[in-house]
Amino acid sequence: MLRIERHLTTDDLDKTLRRDVHDGLSAHPKSLPPKWFYDERGSALFEEITRLPEYYPTRTERAILLRYASGIGRATAADTLVELGSGSGEKTRLLLDALRTAGTLRRFVPVDVSGDFLEEAAGLVAAEYPGLDVRAEVADFERHLHLLPAGGRRLVAILGSTIGNQPPRRRVAFLSDLRSTLTEEDALLLGVDLVKDPGRLVAAYDDACGVTAEFNRNVLHVINRELDADFAPEAFEHVAVWDERAEWIEMRLRAKAPQRVRVRALDLTAGFAEGEEMRTEISAKFRRPTVEAELGRAGFSLAHWWTDPAGDFALLVARPRVPGPG
Ligand code: AVJ
Repeated sequence: MLRIERHLTTDDLDKTLRRDVHDGLSAHPKSLPPKWFYDERGSALFEEITRLPEYYPTRTERAILLRYASGIGRATAADTLVELGSGSGEKTRLLLDALRTAGTLRRFVPVDVSGDFLEEAAGLVAAEYPGLDVRAEVADFERHLHLLPAGGRRLVAILGSTIGNQPPRRRVAFLSDLRSTLTEEDALLLGVDLVKDPGRLVAAYDDACGVTAEFNRNVLHVINRELDADFAPEAFEHVAVWDERAEWIEMRLRAKAPQRVRVRALDLTAGFAEGEEMRTEISAKFRRPTVEAELGRAGFSLAHWWTDPAGDFALLVARPRVPGPG
């Protein structure tokens, strides 16, 4: 059983891209939000990243999930799995299987901004799980949380340390918004990458084969195509630095030489000085006490915390605290 609900049109996306690029290229320093990496090519490059020897998060989270899936199934007894920013589907299936084994699974709600991607992924799940009520939502989960289906016992999964792409205040605001749409019956499943040796962290975001560099530059290809711009992606160098104070990895694009970029659809010209850096992503790394504190401020309390033996990555279950955020 498959239904697709569209809360987001290509027109909405186009408007957001225009605003993001206009604001980002006019700012000092310049920056672009990471959500525009993921067109078809960007998503394929990210898939490739997840298989690189240096990029440990995906395989580590999968191993934790594999080991504790039945625990998650029993602990949450959820009838609905809501997956915010649904990935390629392997982790989804582990969770669905666990909830099916627990005997509670009825409904699956994958949420993603990319309609085509979602339609395909949700269609496959619907075919593999006969009787499962699959309700795909094309939505921006930072804006459309209130539109998610209500009722039952929901488990909201945000995997892959996606939450780390937002700075602390924004992720607490986002988690508070999420909390306000949940009841005491629901639960949150969150995957977070943990602070570790900076050498390994930087290598994970600056791999030897240059796949991450190509992923980073892909945002320029996206802007060229969507907004009729003339970025020369090869004129920008990939930079990944560990910000020790903020405890996040920052990806940047550094202009190899002075250049002027024309964005025709915005009637905007942006100048880059030689060596000028534009931020394209932050990827925060977490420690348990900070995660607990942020969850607390957002109105959740930590119920379970699982890591791999090396302590590289954590998967946690949090429950809405009563009476709520604050
Ligand atoms: C999918 C956003 C969690 O931050 O590690 C991978 C994206 N960026 N390599 C991350 C990413 C560079 C990834 N997230």
